[in-house]
Amino acid sequence: MPNIDNSTSAKTLADLGAGNPTEIRLLFGVQRKDFDIESASCSDFSALESLRVKWIGRKSILTNITDNWLKPAAKEIKPIVGQALNELKAHVEAVLGERRQALEADFNARASHGKEGVDLSLPGVTRPIGSHHLIRQVFQEIEDIFVSIGFSVVEGPEIETPYYNFEALNIPEFHPVRDDMDTFYLDLPKGAPSPLLLRTHTSPMQIRTMEKRKPPVRVIVPGKVYRRDNPDATHSFIFHQVEGLAVDSDITFCDFTGTIEYFVKQFFGPGVKTRFRPSYFPFTEPSVEFDVSCIFCGGTGTSAGGGTCSKCKGAGWIELFGAGMVDPAVYGFVNYDPKKVSGFAFGMGIDRLAMLKYQIDDIQVFFQNDVRFLRQFP
Ligand code: PHE
Repeated sequence: MPNIDNSTSAKTLADLGAGNPTEIRLLFGVQRKDFDIESASCSDFSALESLRVKWIGRKSILTNITDNWLKPAAKEIKPIVGQALNELKAHVEAVLGERRQALEADFNARASHGKEGVDLSLPGVTRPIGSHHLIRQVFQEIEDIFVSIGFSVVEGPEIETPYYNFEALNIPEFHPVRDDMDTFYLDLPKGAPSPLLLRTHTSPMQIRTMEKRKPPVRVIVPGKVYRRDNPDATHSFIFHQVEGLAVDSDITFCDFTGTIEYFVKQFFGPGVKTRFRPSYFPFTEPSVEFDVSCIFCGGTGTSAGGGTCSKCKGAGWIELFGAGMVDPAVYGFVNYDPKKVSGFAFGMGIDRLAMLKYQIDDIQVFFQNDVRFLRQFP
């Protein structure tokens, strides 16, 4: 029979003469009973706090039991001690929680009868719940559409080297298309290994992805891009793009058109018409601009009131984004064999897509963070 006195938890099980499961359970049972008696007479918050400190505080009975009973226990009985300790702990915590709730309920009941002088009917502090920015929501819509047809999402650095932003995309140093992208270079200390710039498009991730992965590759790249554009209703020095790239052994122009038409119909609705116009990018060949029929006038060029549609300026079409079949020269930079692979790429301006879909006429609202605007897109 184990001998039990007040300082039981300060002794080891061996000292207490408890070596078998029955004796151990008995010891735990006594502790539990002690706790039950003490907690039953606990009638205010400070008594409850003392009880908590005594049983589960830093130098409490339960820490003693852990240190003196559990830790030195022999291997065969350790699991039994551990289990009994967990049960005791759960019991103590549950009872302390119940006592606290009961005391609180009692306190509130008395307060609402005016005895405590606390006015619980005063409204509390409400914290406004935020929501995703519209651009983030549109990224999500686009990602969902492409992920559902087998693309994966990758992201890349906003600070790039000229190699990734230009050269590896078949844009050599003095190529005139760089003028369009007249851009932000970082001031670097003398002797820096390479100049760095804020990327002007998400296309560098085409290169970074192909360097890392072997075909088949199917990725989209959401992200921010930077150009030295003067701010106005349709220009900003920072904006957002989603790049797309698919490369495999047998990708044709049909796969390309099918994929982006599918995307556009999912995004704007099945009613829109699409068309390609020839264009030029050094990293695609052939290159196209992709247009949709104007969603404001239904492609008629005439507004509801009868005048010329102000959004498409009467053309019935709106330019959406640039795209094309990956130029074979690009494969040379990533060690793909241009005779064996083919693919397509596209780069869409997200701010523009969002403005069209949600009928927003000034790109600046995306960056001003006026809550009256943001709240319209919860
Ligand atoms: N990177 C181009 C731009 O920003 C868009 C583009 C991407 C065109 C991919 C073709 C292929 O204007």
